Amino acid sequence: MSRYREEFQGKGGRFIIRNAEGDDAAKMFAYMEYVDRETVFLAREPGEFAESYTLEEESRLLAQWAAGDEKLFLVAETEDGEIAATCGCFYSSGRRRGRHIGEIAISVRKDFWRMGLGRRLMGIQMDWCREHRIEKLKLTVDTMNTRALGLYLSLGFVVEGTLRREGKLADGSYCDVYAMAKFFE
Ligand SMILES: CC(C)(COP(=O)(O)OP(=O)(O)OC[C@H]1O[C@@H](n2cnc3c(N)ncnc32)[C@H](O)[C@@H]1OP(=O)(O)O)[C@@H](O)C(=O)NCCC(=O)NCCS
Repeated sequence: MSRYREEFQGKGGRFIIRNAEGDDAAKMFAYMEYVDRETVFLAREPGEFAESYTLEEESRLLAQWAAGDEKLFLVAETEDGEIAATCGCFYSSGRRRGRHIGEIAISVRKDFWRMGLGRRLMGIQMDWCREHRIEKLKLTVDTMNTRALGLYLSLGFVVEGTLRREGKLADGSYCDVYAMAKFFE
């Protein structure tokens, strides 16, 4: 089971960091709607999350991840019970040649940036990777996303290459991304 819970004192706020459960689905919709509107650095256009899943599907997925062992999906919750950040990390046991690879994605709501949530969530996930014998943790990041790049580089991720025109925004412009990875000894 991928279960986790801790109290986290950030710079300017207290949070509960825990794995998401099935009954977080409605909160998750509200959160995704919010973050997808405030940054262009996530994979979806505003409103796309709600178009892709029903509440029931999202609830089933969150419950499935919490019950399984291949994905840890964390949320950071404010004292008012709102989701301030999410961070998902997974590996796949399906193919033996790829079993040592994990993938991670993170987002923090803008009002909670620079409080230390990003660094703490990444740290928890890197510990989870070590416990699960993951040797290489990978992600992609927009080449213009200096904030996220600063975080990843400081955690020991390296740039493996550049993927051109990986994203196309609603206005027709393209974005390039870096493929980054952290190798665990
Ligand atoms: C990138 C993101 C996850 C960082 O989260 P955060 O909670 O603000 O991060 P933290 O407060 O833990 O800061 C972590 C580190 O990020 C780096 N960082 C933060 N702001 C930065 C900036 N403007 N320039 C460069 N580095 C910066 C610093 O290394 C910082 O560490 P420090 O405070 O010890 O110096 C957050 O800004 C975010 O969700 N952005 C929008 C979505 C997104 O870009 N997700 C990543 C997609 S790949």
